[in-house]
Amino acid sequence: MIDAAGTPQTIRLSDYRPPAWRVPQVALDFNLGAESTRVTARLTVERNGKRSEPLVLDGQGLTLVSVKRDGVALDVQPVGETLTIDIPGDSAVIETVVDIAPATNTRLMGLYASGGMLCTQCEAEGFRRITFFPDRPDVLSVYDVKLTADAALYPVLLANGNEVATGQLPDGRHWAQWHDPWPKPSYLFAAVAGNLSPLRDTFVTASGRTVDLAIWVAADDVPRCAHAMAALKTSMRWDEVNYGREYDLDRFNIVAVGDFNFGAMENKGLNIFNSRYILADADTATDADFDAIAAVVAHEYFHNWTGNRITCRDWFQLSLKEGLTVFRDQQFSADQGSAAVRRIDDVRMLRAGQFPEDAGPMAHPIRPDSYIEISNFYTATIYNKGAEVIRMMATLLGPDGFRAGTDLYFDRHDGQAVTTEDFVRSMEDASGVDLAQFRNWYAQAGTPHLDARITHDAAARTAQLHLSQTLAPTPGQPVKPVMQLPLRVALFGGTTGKRLGDERLVSLTEASATIDFDNIDEPPVASLNRGFSAPIIVQSDRSRADLAFLSAHDDDPFARYEALQQLGQATLLDSGDDSDLVAAIGATLNSGLDAAFIAEAVLLPSEAMAGDAMAVVDVDGLHTRREAVRRRIGSDLNAQWWAVYHANNANRYELTPEAKGRRRLRNVALGYLMANDDAEAVATAFKQFETADNMTDRMAALNVLSHSNAPERDAALAAFHARYADNALVLDKWFSVQAMSTRADTPAAVAALMTHPDFSYTNPNRLRALVGAYAANQVRFNAADGSGYRLVADAVLAVDALNPQAAARLVSPLGRWKRFDAARAALMRAELERIVATEGLSKDVFEIASKSLV
Ligand code: ARG
Ligand code: ZN
Repeated sequence: MIDAAGTPQTIRLSDYRPPAWRVPQVALDFNLGAESTRVTARLTVERNGKRSEPLVLDGQGLTLVSVKRDGVALDVQPVGETLTIDIPGDSAVIETVVDIAPATNTRLMGLYASGGMLCTQCEAEGFRRITFFPDRPDVLSVYDVKLTADAALYPVLLANGNEVATGQLPDGRHWAQWHDPWPKPSYLFAAVAGNLSPLRDTFVTASGRTVDLAIWVAADDVPRCAHAMAALKTSMRWDEVNYGREYDLDRFNIVAVGDFNFGAMENKGLNIFNSRYILADADTATDADFDAIAAVVAHEYFHNWTGNRITCRDWFQLSLKEGLTVFRDQQFSADQGSAAVRRIDDVRMLRAGQFPEDAGPMAHPIRPDSYIEISNFYTATIYNKGAEVIRMMATLLGPDGFRAGTDLYFDRHDGQAVTTEDFVRSMEDASGVDLAQFRNWYAQAGTPHLDARITHDAAARTAQLHLSQTLAPTPGQPVKPVMQLPLRVALFGGTTGKRLGDERLVSLTEASATIDFDNIDEPPVASLNRGFSAPIIVQSDRSRADLAFLSAHDDDPFARYEALQQLGQATLLDSGDDSDLVAAIGATLNSGLDAAFIAEAVLLPSEAMAGDAMAVVDVDGLHTRREAVRRRIGSDLNAQWWAVYHANNANRYELTPEAKGRRRLRNVALGYLMANDDAEAVATAFKQFETADNMTDRMAALNVLSHSNAPERDAALAAFHARYADNALVLDKWFSVQAMSTRADTPAAVAALMTHPDFSYTNPNRLRALVGAYAANQVRFNAADGSGYRLVADAVLAVDALNPQAAARLVSPLGRWKRFDAARAALMRAELERIVATEGLSKDVFEIASKSLV
């Protein structure tokens, strides 16, 4: 809320107080209409202990019609965004009636309209846009919900839990009554009304109960739900086997929505999804889309225990459910295909999204101390670094200790709203492992740096690994404690190429330490932070030759990948000879390892990744250098790339891990073949584009063509648009591929696309596909004339008036100004200043823009 002085208020963890009132029961009655919906809420409230405060309810944008206390009308009005009700005794029934307007709700929080349906999004603070309520996660209630709506417009009426009754009204309206027996916080409330068709299935739980499953979409889309349904059933079984967690209702419904602010939402028994994480078939979705769908379906399903049965006490604890649930979905995905490739993807995402956040103006611990707008804290730090923190505990405790820890956590806290501290204590109590120092990971922002050097004493046949760690200051945290770093390390013999002894788990608890290795008879090369056991940046004295050696010999797949990446990184950062890199890539292509792994290993680090390692990002120099290296890899290994391209041609489309790996490798090869823009490669790409029997291959071809100057490029883009003109999710790809093009005319192309009839500020997917993708195109977004910055700032301001959360997400690329040269930094700052100076700015955008200027 913006206070009288016009400054948004900061909410602090240290101000947390338990609620003064509990609300054990809620009855909601919705009289639904797109233009106007009337919500009658009956709250049974009870004083929480000996507290004397009045009942204070949150409400935002509600038109209050009436308030009753124990059946008696009260003459009260909201003040700002709260409604205060005096209650003489220790309990009461409060009834409020409000009107809301779903059709004009462009924020997509609360009850809103999307494509003819009405649906809700309440996390974090959307429920207060539906009715007056203590809208905080530590108030748990049993919900009874009645939905009444026009039967023709909204034949399907869904809410949390189980359907208990339905009926028809004489005026063409109908109703459904839902009951959710599990007490839940308001952020897990959901309701949907629409003309939807189900894909139905059933699941029999470990204890033999049959659960009715349904995914609700527009009738035409039902055939595109099969993959999501399969993923749901696989995740339900997986959680039983791996965590002992069974589903706890008779029904599980999923609804897909076209306009949605984020990926998906785990509402109890009624998950609501961005349609991009449900709809897929071979013609419209890539392999990456299929994998993302399975991961998000699993993620939301897993929340049923980690989030819903046990929820967060307050929003500072968000990583309690998000970090843990991301970790669980990562484990699940690792079990569905190549675990190594999945780990590579996880780390790539962490480095691309979280490391820059941790090094920038919005750096925050996974348990933040304060926020202005909680929506701004659904970040890569809370989610992905949060998952890494859980993973480190799993590493320190071992599989049995970790399982004992989660078992104890579920036993101890089922039905409660708890803190990250409660989770860590369960881990400690179940395993006996002391996590006192480890807790710093919850309180500290920033990415630790580890310096590692190895020495060898040939006479004594020993080696010493010298480790030292540092953690740079972050906003509000000038002095940092020593972190506990779980490091998996191994040594390899530089002569034999063999591993010397077993892998060791080193728990670094000091600022520096020396680790001794015995029986070392040859010069050792260190394999460090294997499996990316700690989310840190490692600097070592390993030579290029050592990295090339590890890329051929390391037996930890992540470390092997990493060695080649580091060699690539070193090559991008200096201008020296790159023949060792080319040779190492050639050797990896011939290694006989699995195609999916090879495909990831032989890719160069992105320009953004290389830029992150520089004191000041050299935007144009890096692009020129990386393109030159890519051309060299493409031409020196030309025959091998062609061989790989032809060898991995499939006779027909399959969606197995093997087939996906081969497609990926073949398309990586196509990228290198296209690096020199030669005619044979262009013709091959265009042919692949035209003849592909699946979206992965078609999109890969379009992607490589998008960077090219060949006439086939425009032909392919036009054909793609024509073919998929009525499929919004595929059109998003068409926008993105142009926004990510490395061509020099991309800034102009993006500016033109902003006025394309298919572009829209109101659809978050489309906005992200064009403006979000452009802001991630390092060389073109950072055009020296500042046109990219201006375009993004204009978009922020245009969107902020409609949807502050969607707008706020576009601000952070401008917040990276300190990483760039003075001229670019000044241009970025000027845009941030223009944003902050704008009248009527949302607190979402205000928080990120103002903090970015500091
Ligand atoms: N809890 C949802 C998930 O599964 C995301 C909700 C996002 N909410 C927000 N205000 N950003 O991750
Ligand atoms: Zn989540």
